[in-house]
Amino acid sequence: VLPRTIDWASDEGRTAGTVGSIIVVDQTRLPDLHLRRLTTPDELVDAIRRLVVRGAPALGVAGALGVALCSAYEGATPRWVRAQAARIAEARPTAVNLAWGVRVALASLERGPDAVLAAALKVRDDEIASCHAIGARAASWLRDARDGAPLRMLTHCNAGSMACVEWGTALGVVRSLHERARVESVLVDETRPLLQGARITAFELAHDGIPHRVIVDGAGPSAIARGLVDVVVVGADRIAANGDVANKIGTYPLALAAVRAGVPFVVAAPESTVDLDTPDGAAIDIEDRGADEVLLVAGHRLTPVGSNAWNPAFDVTPADLVSAVITERRVWQPGT
Ligand code: MRU
Repeated sequence: VLPRTIDWASDEGRTAGTVGSIIVVDQTRLPDLHLRRLTTPDELVDAIRRLVVRGAPALGVAGALGVALCSAYEGATPRWVRAQAARIAEARPTAVNLAWGVRVALASLERGPDAVLAAALKVRDDEIASCHAIGARAASWLRDARDGAPLRMLTHCNAGSMACVEWGTALGVVRSLHERARVESVLVDETRPLLQGARITAFELAHDGIPHRVIVDGAGPSAIARGLVDVVVVGADRIAANGDVANKIGTYPLALAAVRAGVPFVVAAPESTVDLDTPDGAAIDIEDRGADEVLLVAGHRLTPVGSNAWNPAFDVTPADLVSAVITERRVWQPGT
């Protein structure tokens, strides 16, 4: 069984002034599996920025556990905890789950550190339960796809257990269908520049023995156009009130190709990713990351010295291209 991508460890690895720590799988090192212990808000903020912990639901749990970590410090004042919480919430801008998780845990601050930790652990447990509910609901929504035969699926980035504590959203759908013998194969976009598909999604599928092939990002739309894909399933970092979906850069062309080919484009995400305060995709803050992630591959510069890069981490798929947003509570068809 894969370790949880993020969890709380009480009283372990105790450093001066703390009563617990956050354990994460270091996702920068996958497919090699290394656990890391985070004991300070500085370490957590750095881990979020560097994508040691990543994926919208996992970021929500990181935010909540981060507040629990700070409020458990000996001598922590509410003012200090709130200041740290603000830094954690701002560590990455696009996935709404991060600020949401921080807010949920902070709501218990006046009731003391045990109450904050209980709230954070509930965020963790709820996200795990949501993933299973999303998977089951999506499997029944896709019951009649390809006349009930095993499906040829395509996914982008990593919306698996590594992005969500356990099971996953988009990969939770794959896993739920696989349990029902409904997966023929999965095409996995490698997901440049940080290769979450090639390194993390492929790692999870290989671990579970689910047939899959990695493709370069540019091959996804033409695989759909050539009739090689029965359903595209992706996760989301933020879903605006009108159903526009922010997800890893490269998602939008898949939706365009899916609509053109008449293939369902399914977004699997918990309700914590739906942000009613964001009216539409234009209002979503798209994270711009450093040029070196594009210019260097595995530490090697492949581009000429003097070339620069643009590195938006996410794109927005308009609601009218989305066949269904499947959450733990509903099937939402914003495009109809
Ligand atoms: O930059 P990342 O790796 O954090 O981006 C993650 C994604 O885009 C995922 O698809 C999204 O967070 C959904 S995870 C269930």
